[in-house]
Amino acid sequence: MNKVSAPSASPRKDGKKEVAKAMAARDNTSGTKENKILVAYFSHSGNTRVIAQQIHASLGGDLFEIVPVDSYPRDYDAAVEQARKELSTAYKPKLKSKVQNMKSHTVVCVGYPCWWGTIPRPVATFLSEYDFSGETIAPFCTHEGSGLGRSVTDIRALCPHSTVLNGLAVRGGHVKKAQNEVYGWLREIGLEK
Ligand SMILES: Cc1cc2nc3c(=O)[nH]c(=O)nc-3n(C[C@H](O)[C@H](O)[C@H](O)COP(=O)(O)O)c2cc1C
Repeated sequence: MNKVSAPSASPRKDGKKEVAKAMAARDNTSGTKENKILVAYFSHSGNTRVIAQQIHASLGGDLFEIVPVDSYPRDYDAAVEQARKELSTAYKPKLKSKVQNMKSHTVVCVGYPCWWGTIPRPVATFLSEYDFSGETIAPFCTHEGSGLGRSVTDIRALCPHSTVLNGLAVRGGHVKKAQNEVYGWLREIGLEK
């Protein structure tokens, strides 16, 4: 399914320090030890959902599916064409539901399939709907060749006051065997228990 390709990019940052800082800051300001993790993901054909579930099973916290009001065509080519149009107009599709208690989360893992080398537009809507200032975002994606593409750069542009950690990119066809990759990434960014 490698019909669309884009250059890959994976900006690096010292994740462990960033997450520890985020956790400590939250403890200091709220006086609680809540430090809840949210795993929020969009998935068109199920691959990203598998990774989201692996992360959630490992970290606990809350799991939230980003679902657009108008679903995308199941047909691959039709979905690709719709996604292309939406990207070219920076369209932000309406989402079906909202996270009720966003502020109780210290770290938000955001998952998506790489679409046209970046985040699908429902993820752009999600990132614009909340104030992630001072929060830590850990991006993960599934793809068929582009890796993270320019998605992390685009997330940073949408959330300029957040700490956006190193992203994880997993081949769509490998998601069921990706557990070690997922654990390795969680360890690298300092989230593994
Ligand atoms: C609209 C659309 C655009 C895509 N664009 C890319 C792309 O630019 N690069 C890439 O490697 N894969 C691309 N793919 C493939 C998906 O990223 C890949 O199949 C992914 O694992 C699907 O995840 P999901 O099952 O969670 O939707 C695209 C797929 C679709 C439907």
